[in-house]
Amino acid sequence: MKPLFLLAGFLHGLHAASLKPNKTKSCSKTGLVTTQDGVHLNYTQSGPLAGQKILFIPGWRQTAAEWKKQVEYFSSTGYRVTAYDMRGHGESEKPDFGYRISRFAADLNDLLNQLDLKDVSIVAHSMGSSISWAWWDQYPDARDRIDRFVFVDQSSVLTADPHWTEEQAKQVSALFDPIGVYDLADDMTAQTPPFVRSMFTDSISEADFEWVLSENKKISDKNAATLVIDHAFRDWRDVLPRIHVPSLVIAGEVSVNAAPGIAWVATQIPGGKSYTFTAEEKGSHFMFWENPERFNSIVEDFITP
Ligand SMILES: *[C@@H]1O[C@H](CO)[C@@H](O)[C@H](O)[C@H]1NC(C)=O
Ligand SMILES: *[C@@H]1O[C@H](CO)[C@@H](O)[C@H](O)[C@H]1NC(C)=O
Repeated sequence: MKPLFLLAGFLHGLHAASLKPNKTKSCSKTGLVTTQDGVHLNYTQSGPLAGQKILFIPGWRQTAAEWKKQVEYFSSTGYRVTAYDMRGHGESEKPDFGYRISRFAADLNDLLNQLDLKDVSIVAHSMGSSISWAWWDQYPDARDRIDRFVFVDQSSVLTADPHWTEEQAKQVSALFDPIGVYDLADDMTAQTPPFVRSMFTDSISEADFEWVLSENKKISDKNAATLVIDHAFRDWRDVLPRIHVPSLVIAGEVSVNAAPGIAWVATQIPGGKSYTFTAEEKGSHFMFWENPERFNSIVEDFITP
């Protein structure tokens, strides 16, 4: 009896020790999530294992690496940070199928499940916000995984209905008219560099611009074109009033997306808040890259209980 009892006590002790959260234990890793249609997505995790969770989602053509100023800051101040590359983007696998928002929302759901992210705050740039809205719409059973949302510079309708008045298009800061979407998609190679440049203020260094452009080129122009057509014609206005977790919308005064229609998103989400980066604060589409100190502090204030 005695040895067995001791063994049981020993096992019990081990079990208890392994469950005890260690707030300072840090572990960085890279890994792969396999989506239900068999595509491998690269992700990175860093910061203390037991830290409050944040997930960063990049925008169209953008990559997890572009969140590095946020990943460094939040992982070194006690958060458990996850960032991933969407299918076809960055380091992730590049199949020739699935370039539509509904599939990208399913991919996000696969990632949340496989990494078992709970009480996670999602910080989503641009198209990453649309993916989050699609996910919220499509996976109501999984909504309780989310603590808070931060939606960065994404309008609820990207393309104006040609029958709208100018006022209606302005209300949501529609960026395109329908022909403009196909013009971009059909001339992707030539239009990408100026389009990416328009996402920054003039103060971006050439080295930074070239690096971001090289990240943008990790997705093929063909896949990026297929995706932008699907992305541009979605309308998320009916989803916003059904979001019931605290949400912050971030806009930029000098962004390609006119700030009022971005901030309007917050007025549609119950209890939604908004913050607009001014020109002095480098409020471009990439304000998180151009002014990481301000961006990180605003996000931290919002997501920290
Ligand atoms: C937590 O992890 C850190 C780093 O691995 C270690 O130095 C520390 O002793 C651990 N603390 C406890 C209470 O286990
Ligand atoms: C991404 O995953 C692939 C395996 O599919 C691996 O070869 C590659 O090293 C990973 N990239 C990074 C940056 O971890």
